[in-house]
Amino acid sequence: ETEIILVDKNVNKEETYSQAVEILRNEGLVAFPTETVYGLGADATNPQAVEKIFEAKGRPADNPLIVHVDSKESALEWVQNVPDKALQCMDAFWPGALTLIMKSKPDAFAENVTAGLSTVGIRVPNHPVALNLLRRVKLPIAAPSANTSGKPSPTRAEHVYHDMEGIIPLILDGGATAIGIESTVLDMTCEPPVILRPGNITKEDLEQVIGTVRLSSDIQGNAPKSPGMKYMHYAPEAPVYLIENDQALVEKAIEHVQKDGKKVAVLSTVEFPLADYYFRLSAETLYDSLRKCDRTDVDLILATVSPAPKRNVAMMNRLEKAADHKWFS
Ligand code: TXA
Ligand code: MG
Repeated sequence: ETEIILVDKNVNKEETYSQAVEILRNEGLVAFPTETVYGLGADATNPQAVEKIFEAKGRPADNPLIVHVDSKESALEWVQNVPDKALQCMDAFWPGALTLIMKSKPDAFAENVTAGLSTVGIRVPNHPVALNLLRRVKLPIAAPSANTSGKPSPTRAEHVYHDMEGIIPLILDGGATAIGIESTVLDMTCEPPVILRPGNITKEDLEQVIGTVRLSSDIQGNAPKSPGMKYMHYAPEAPVYLIENDQALVEKAIEHVQKDGKKVAVLSTVEFPLADYYFRLSAETLYDSLRKCDRTDVDLILATVSPAPKRNVAMMNRLEKAADHKWFS
C-alpha cells in the first residue's frame, strides 16, 4: 500500500507531483528526497497532518520538526524579528543544507511542529524534487528525516520503504541523496548565533558570511537548546564502538572479537580484509553502511576515527551518537 514513484527523468513533469500534492493538501504524509536525507513531509499548518509524522516515526512529541519552504520570500512570510545575519545566511546558503532557527509568527504553524516553542527551524532544500514539490503544493512542509525514530536517517528511497512500508501512502524516489547527513542547524535567536547541530555547512563556512558563531557543544552548562540532540540517534542493531584509526590496533581488536566466536564489521577509510564485513566510511555513505550492517549477522561494529578534518565534524558527531560515545577497549 506504500507507492513509490521513481522520479528520474520526469523531475520537471507535472504528473510526477500531482499525487504528492493531493496527499499533502489532504492531511497525508509524503516522503521525498532532499540533498541531505529523505524527509517525511506533512502540511506544517495542520496539526492532524503533523501528528501523523510523530505517529509514523514513533518520535517523541518534545522534538520539534524542521519546516521546508521553496524560497527566502516564502520563509519570511512565517517568521518575525529576523536578524540581518539570518537574511545574510539565507542569501549565501539557500537553497542548501542550513536550517535557521528564528522566531515564528504567532499561530503560524501547527503547535506540534515547534513542540510548543516560540521559535521554528526553517530551510530551503537544494534538491530539484523537493523544490518542485514545494513550489506546487504551496504550503510550508514540516519534514523530519523519514526514518523510524532512533534508526539511521534514510539516504535512499529503499531505506524509507524499509521503515515506512504500509505506514505512509507515497515515496518520491529521487535516488541517493548527495550529502548523506542532516542539515546544519543554526540558532539565530541568540548573539552570536549557535550551531545546535553540525552539518555539511561548517562553522568556518558560516563565519565567512556572518562572523563569529559558536558551537553548542563548546558551551558549558547549557541545557540542550536543540531538543533533538539529547536523543540517541542513528544506531544500527549491533553495538558500534569507536576505535583509533591505527592498523595494528584495529587488527588486534578484530582478532579479539573473532576469538569469542563473534562477527565483526569495520567502518573505515582503509580496507581491513581480516574483518567479516567492511564498509567504507564517508559522510555520504555512513547511514547506508549502518543500515547494511543490520542486514548481516554481525555482532559488533568497529568505526575507525582519525583526527578529524573540519569537513568531518558532522560525520564524527553522527558516528559518536551511533556508538553512544563508546570506545573499544
Ligand atoms: O537535513 C535535514 O535537516 C533533514 C531534511 C529532511 O531536511 N531534516 C531533519 O529533521 O533532520 P529532523 O526533524 O530529523 O531534525 C530536526 C532538528 C532536531 O535536532 C530538532 O531538535 C532541531 O532540528 N530543531 C527543530 N526546531 C527547533 C527549534 N525551534 N529550536 C531548536 N532546535 C530545533
Ligand atoms: Mg532525524
